[in-house]
Amino acid sequence: MASALLAKKALRQALAVGARSQATVGRRSGAVISIIGSSRRTLASVKDVTVNVTFINHEGLRITVPGRVGQSLLDVAQMHDIELESGCGGGGAVQQKKHSERWTEDLFGRGPCCHFCHVKIPSPWINTIHDKQPATEKEHELLEEHWQEEATDNSRLGCQVMLTKNLDGMQVFIPDGPPADCP
Ligand code: FES
Repeated sequence: MASALLAKKALRQALAVGARSQATVGRRSGAVISIIGSSRRTLASVKDVTVNVTFINHEGLRITVPGRVGQSLLDVAQMHDIELESGCGGGGAVQQKKHSERWTEDLFGRGPCCHFCHVKIPSPWINTIHDKQPATEKEHELLEEHWQEEATDNSRLGCQVMLTKNLDGMQVFIPDGPPADCP
């Protein structure tokens, strides 16, 4: 509601000052509507928020699929039925804390906790990701503890890497999944 009022106000101001003014009158999900002069409108298109990602599995099979800015690599893989393991979805597992015989509390975890979604990302994309979305201590811990020598500087957890426009065209290698008896 407030944004609609702001948009109307910006539109009135733009019309009041005439052709030399430019006003942004709407912003929703990255879409921007601008009034330049009197009537020209520019709308963001789907293309502006689409990020193409090429997944490569351990057998060398490649598939390029579109994702959207803000989605995680795990989201994109799942949306396209690409086999990238996920135990916690990056949202943390529910843990039960037993306070007494009669009181057990559900604690909702945050962040990664299963380590299944290990991916390797080549340069230059990995540098951009490390730069803008550095791994948390927990992510480092999970990679080192469970993937050991398989984890390299190119390793990340797929649920923790969010797509941004400058990752368009990135390649993502999916190593072989964790052993079936992995806790
Ligand atoms: S899905 Fe569990 S850590 Fe990524």
